[in-house]
Amino acid sequence: MRAILLNPGPVSLSDGVRRAITRVDLCHREPEFFNLQDQIIRDLLDIYQCDPAEWTAVLVGGSGTSAMEAMMASLLPSDANLLVLENGVYGERLSKLAKIYGISYQALHAPWGDEIDLDALAELLASGEYSHVAAVHHETTTGRLNPVDKIAALCDEHNVQLLLDAVSSFGAEAIPFGNPCLQAMAATANKCLHGIPGLAMVLCRRDALEQDIEPRSLSLHLPSWAAAQAKSSTPYTPAVNSMLGLAQALKELRKQGGWKARRTHYRKLAADVAETLDQLGVQQWLPASQSSCVLRSYHLPDGLTYNALHDGLKQHGFIIYAGQGDFAEKLFRISTMGEISDYDMARLEQALQTVIGG
Ligand SMILES: Cc1ncc(COP(=O)(O)O)c(C=O)c1O
Repeated sequence: MRAILLNPGPVSLSDGVRRAITRVDLCHREPEFFNLQDQIIRDLLDIYQCDPAEWTAVLVGGSGTSAMEAMMASLLPSDANLLVLENGVYGERLSKLAKIYGISYQALHAPWGDEIDLDALAELLASGEYSHVAAVHHETTTGRLNPVDKIAALCDEHNVQLLLDAVSSFGAEAIPFGNPCLQAMAATANKCLHGIPGLAMVLCRRDALEQDIEPRSLSLHLPSWAAAQAKSSTPYTPAVNSMLGLAQALKELRKQGGWKARRTHYRKLAADVAETLDQLGVQQWLPASQSSCVLRSYHLPDGLTYNALHDGLKQHGFIIYAGQGDFAEKLFRISTMGEISDYDMARLEQALQTVIGG
C-alpha cells in the first residue's frame, strides 16, 4: 500500500508530478534545461504576483536549510546587526546560521510554541541598533503561524530589512511581498508547492543581490547563482529532476486556483482532522486561529505513546510526525499538504478512530 505522508514534507505526489520527474533526461547545459529554469523562475514569481523587475527567484540545489543558509550567508553585509525571532526549532536554526557565519546578532527568544512578543520587538527596533530581522513565518515545530504582516509593518516603521524563512508556508499562506522591508524569502520545492526534495529557492529583491558583500560560501552564494541563471546558465549541477517535478507542480497549483485556493483547501483538511481528533478527546496544542493551514500539533492521547500511535496509523497507510526535542514525549503533528484525496481523508478518519478510539 502507498502511504499517505502527513509529515510536513516531503509530501505525497500527484500522478502528474510523479510522471514529470522521469519524463525526460536533461543535460543542464542545453537550451531545454534553460527553458525549464526560466519557466520555473517566472512561475515562482507569479504565485504572489511579484514584479520581475524588482524580484527574482534564485534556485539552488539543497533542502530548506540550504535555502535559509544561502539567504543568511549571501544577503547580510559584514556590518549588519541582526535580530532573530525565535519561538521554535527553525528560529533557533536562523541564530545558529548567524553564529556560524560570524554575523553579529541577538535573539528575541520565546519558548517553543509561544507567541513572538511584538511589544518587545517594537522596543528593540526602536533602539535603532538593528539593521535586519530574520524570522520564521510558519514555525513548523508547533504549527504556529507567526504574524509576519505585523512583523513586516514594524520593520518598515523602523527602516529595518526583513529576511523570512517561509519554507513551510510559501504557496499556501499570505506573504507580505509588498512591504519594502522584505528583502528575501527562503522556500523549497517539497512542501506547499507539492514538488520533490532537492531544490531550494530564495525569492530576493534584485537590490538585495546587488549589495557588495564578500562571499561567505561558494556553492550557496545567491548572487553567483542569480547571475548565472540570468545568462541562461548555472554555476554548478542543478537539481534537474526536482525542477522537472516542480514545473509540473506549479502548473497544477495555478490550475487549482493558486495559493489562496490551496490555503482554503488545507484549512478544510486541517479542520476535518481536528474535528475527528476532538471527538476522540485529543486536544490541539495551539488554537486553530494561531495555527497555520499547513500543520497542527496535538497533545498525545492519554495512555498512547507516540510510537504506538505512529505505528498503528502506519499500518493503515498514514505517516504522521513526532514532536521535536522535548516535545517528542508530549505532542504529535499532522500536516495535510500534498496530494490527499477525499477517499484518503475518509480512510484517515477511520484509522484515527481505530487506533485512538480502540
Ligand atoms: C520553517 C522551516 N524552515 C526550515 C526547514 C528546514 O528544511 P529541511 O529539513 O528541508 O532542511 C523546515 C523543515 O521542515 C521548516 O519547516
